[in-house]
Amino acid sequence: MFRRARRASLLHCEQVSLPHLAERFGTPLYVYSASAIRERVQAFQKAFRKTPHTVCYSVKANSNLAILRLLAKMNCGFDVVSGGELECVLRVNRAAANKTVFSGVGKTGTEMQAALRSNILLFNVESESELAVLAECAGRLRKTANVAVRVNPDVSAETHPYISTGLREHKFGVPIADAVRLYAQAAADRRLNVCGVSVHIGSQIMDVKPFAQAMERVADLVCELRRSGHTIAYVDAGGGLGIDYEGINPENAAGFAERVASYAQAILRSLAGLEVHLLLEPGRSIVGSAGVLVTRVIYKKTNHGKTFLVSDAAMNDLLRPALYGAYHQIIPVEKIADAHQKTVDVVGPVCETGDFLARDRELPAVREGDLMAVLDTGAYGMALASNYNTRLRPAEVLIDGKAARLVRRRESIVDLLRLEPSLTKKRRVN
Ligand code: LLP
Repeated sequence: MFRRARRASLLHCEQVSLPHLAERFGTPLYVYSASAIRERVQAFQKAFRKTPHTVCYSVKANSNLAILRLLAKMNCGFDVVSGGELECVLRVNRAAANKTVFSGVGKTGTEMQAALRSNILLFNVESESELAVLAECAGRLRKTANVAVRVNPDVSAETHPYISTGLREHKFGVPIADAVRLYAQAAADRRLNVCGVSVHIGSQIMDVKPFAQAMERVADLVCELRRSGHTIAYVDAGGGLGIDYEGINPENAAGFAERVASYAQAILRSLAGLEVHLLLEPGRSIVGSAGVLVTRVIYKKTNHGKTFLVSDAAMNDLLRPALYGAYHQIIPVEKIADAHQKTVDVVGPVCETGDFLARDRELPAVREGDLMAVLDTGAYGMALASNYNTRLRPAEVLIDGKAARLVRRRESIVDLLRLEPSLTKKRRVN
């Protein structure tokens, strides 16, 4: 959905040129393609069509309300990890609560009560203590909480250690061996309704084998639990399917559909015959490739022979390179005639050496004032953005065909200082 229109040298998102958007909304700017998002959701729905399933989009990847609305319209459910994310879902569509699962190791009683009041589908419980708090909350509200235990399958996800979650040493889930006891405990409590098993082994996983391994263990557990008399209607397979950050961008629809199909195969193989309703929690694979960060080169400088492009986007706008050493392709928005490549660092204005978008990157001869697009930034881009260095978070635009809609305006300094009333008041008196 991001391509140079035939014969034109300018990068477009669907039918809108990125320079036009930069002119209209300023930079840095997140630009998302609605068609790309729809295409990805459809690929999931198609790959899993033979199994009763719900795609519960993982809100943490990108919580923009316009994107949530688009997904709700496609019958998606949601995976939330905080009261804030739940509130976003409710604002978009109250009815989506009954397709919403609540994950996370540290749900508070207040968050659980909000989720119970809105009648969410499922709580993915991660500890004995959490189970006790959930039961208490449900009792207080005279409700029954639907419970799955998130198990830790002790499977290596072969991904960056910071986003791997399914090994025994990680904080996530409950060891499978302990889960059985937890299920028995939950089943004995009238305030809780045991109805599922959930798992999530990590993020940005390109090889589908770890998913298959985790599902084998989950399927065994489902059988064991059923033998003990539990009703297990749901299996929540979590999220984690990766995207091709380094390959040809955008990964075309067919290529993506193929990968989702092999992911589906890996998940479904061990679930065959179990007759469960499958929940999926993809985040990155739905929105990652559907977004770019448009940034302008402010300065070009050379220190001791090393060239830096100082862009107006920094680590506060896109944290992934600084936090994980993540690779994002960067391309000039306007095709540069001089094909000569040069090795540069693309850095931001933030006062940290770790503030970079790319290191030792071969780029065509980009000049000061030129626009660049940082690709595959639809997931965990804006979601991880901060106000470090008192920088204003970027605006976000959603493109659908020819239509460009500002779905979050750029922050202003007033937005930032609003929470510090004494200071702003003083200023006004002066
Ligand atoms: N479900 C659970 C329980 C999760 O913890 C996550 C992600 C997902 C679903 C969605 O995973 P996805 O399909 O997006 O891989 N900030 C990191 C990624 C952190 C992922 C955290 N959990 C990054 O920028 O790579």
